[in-house]
Amino acid sequence: MIYRLLFAVVTLVALVITVNAQDYHSYANPAAVRVRHVDLDWNVLFDQKTLKGSATLTVERISQTEPLILDTRDLKIDRVETSVDGMHYVAGTFKLGDNDKILGAPLTIPLPAKATRVRIFYSSSPGASGLQWLDPAQTAGKKDPFLFTQSEAIHARSWIPLQDSPGVRITYAAHVRTPPNLLAVMSAENLSGPARNGDYRFRMQQAIPSYLIALAVGDLQFKSLGPRTGVYAEPSTLALAARELSDTEKMVTATERVYGPYRWGRYDILVLPPSFPYGGMENPRLTFATPTMLAGDKSLVSLIAHELAHSWSGNLVTNATWRDFWLNEGFTTYLERRILEAVYGRPRAEMEATLGLRDLKEEIAGLDDRDEILHIDLKGRDPDDGSTDIPYEKGALFLRHLEETFGRARFDQFLKGYFNHFAFQSITTDQFVAYLKQNLLDKDPTLAAKVPVDEWINHPGLPASAPKPSSPAFARVEEQAHLWLGSKIRPEQIPSAKWTTQEWLHFLQTVQTVLGSPTAVPESSEAAAQSMSALDRAFHFTRSGNSEIAFQWLLMSIRNRYEPAYPRLEEFLLTIGRRKFIKPLYEELAKTPAGKARALSIYRRARPTYHPIAVASIDEVLKWSAGN
Ligand code: BES
Ligand code: ZN
Repeated sequence: MIYRLLFAVVTLVALVITVNAQDYHSYANPAAVRVRHVDLDWNVLFDQKTLKGSATLTVERISQTEPLILDTRDLKIDRVETSVDGMHYVAGTFKLGDNDKILGAPLTIPLPAKATRVRIFYSSSPGASGLQWLDPAQTAGKKDPFLFTQSEAIHARSWIPLQDSPGVRITYAAHVRTPPNLLAVMSAENLSGPARNGDYRFRMQQAIPSYLIALAVGDLQFKSLGPRTGVYAEPSTLALAARELSDTEKMVTATERVYGPYRWGRYDILVLPPSFPYGGMENPRLTFATPTMLAGDKSLVSLIAHELAHSWSGNLVTNATWRDFWLNEGFTTYLERRILEAVYGRPRAEMEATLGLRDLKEEIAGLDDRDEILHIDLKGRDPDDGSTDIPYEKGALFLRHLEETFGRARFDQFLKGYFNHFAFQSITTDQFVAYLKQNLLDKDPTLAAKVPVDEWINHPGLPASAPKPSSPAFARVEEQAHLWLGSKIRPEQIPSAKWTTQEWLHFLQTVQTVLGSPTAVPESSEAAAQSMSALDRAFHFTRSGNSEIAFQWLLMSIRNRYEPAYPRLEEFLLTIGRRKFIKPLYEELAKTPAGKARALSIYRRARPTYHPIAVASIDEVLKWSAGN
């Protein structure tokens, strides 16, 4: 009887775990047929904006009867072959299902007895959501075209037919043919040596989730930064990029000291053209980065700390589904701040944490409760919708709460153990919680009682006991901002000569809070615009070459109707495609009829230069339709 009960409980638990681990953003059936490896072979056809070639999948057959089901989006499937021994291939059949707006279409391939290889001949479509094909005019050099991929979250399926779920890890090899004067790079080991001849081979022997497969092709050059670090960029950007990124090797070493060895061999950074829709993307061995991080003074390198941190949190230990995204981004944001602290000191890390907390609170004010939950339910939604500050900043605060409660030494040891224990696995939130309980909480119930784990993970908002980062430097900046806003001093009297980018950002945000509040000292919008004008005369924000400062200033310029900044706003939106910048700017413009008209006029010109992922976002903001 007892045994029966036990059996029932175990079965139930197993069921709950499988149901929870189910990835509703993939059609694939890895529990029956699991892809283990893929061999890729492509021609990169710039004139047709098409990748054309084949993907050969090696599968493990857990069920002997079920077909292989893959994810695709806008792929043209020419034919399919299967093989038992990997040498002799025979023609196979396939069925491409109906297209879903978010998920794409399932590709079902029946498998003959004992077949373990499936070769798919296919091509991508020119509008593939995971590819951006740039005309020469959109590059720094203006001479050659450029291609780059962005697979996270579920865009790999738009350029490779595979089981596009982060719960499925695969190794890969690739053979890529490009125009002979261009260089191809991938998130993998380069097997072709330095020769630039249009024929390149790669392999990734560590099993990774599909969203980390990446390719870029362009007029790229390489510069070494350290024994295992380096940077790729277009020739005219390379020197600037190498100077900006010169602390990269130090960052790798600092991270290893706390969290254990860097397990991916090299760590290189690819600086992309400005239409890259993200700040950075942690493709293994080769972080993809926006050129807008090149401020000239290393002030925006937290982005590199972040992408590097993913080499542990995300690439080594991966979210099993997009519901568990906070395991990637929350841990990474926490590690990012620890790396900054190790390399640049505690005050710098605390400034970044304070800026992060402010953004989080602002975002929480506008979010639905259901979207404030770390273990978010994304059923029926695009996983890219889950990329708010919640997984990043709330996730990082949760870990900081654990660190502050249990002490740094114990928490560091715990995290290092966690990365080792789950290395090269994809895990769910439940698996993390079970590990946390066993390896930290249960060892000290008195301390554990101080951390409301369930509230952190399953409730909206922030627990009352959430940590509060503090920055004395920021307190001084606030004081100066208030002195000026209260007309006690002129802008020129602010002792800002040594302020860092983070202090300037905090200054601007403090000013905006006062200008934007209903009881603001300058009551009318005209007065607000005058305040903006005084600041601009003293500090030249409209001309700032720092993308974060320029973004903050332009956002304020729209809010306070500071028209002299509008030409710069237009230029910014026409040359930069980073979603984090352009989406809030279009949103702010869209709040008034005149602003909306301005936004549409800019977007009409900018849209053809934006990445498909950015286009999808901005189309929604501006309710863009084909007639516009
Ligand atoms: N992995 C993310 C980028 C991402 C998230 C792409 C979700 C697609 C879907 C990357 O690590 C990231 O978080 N980038 C940030 C920069 C970072 C410094 C916060 C970005 O791009 O803004
Ligand atoms: Zn990240």
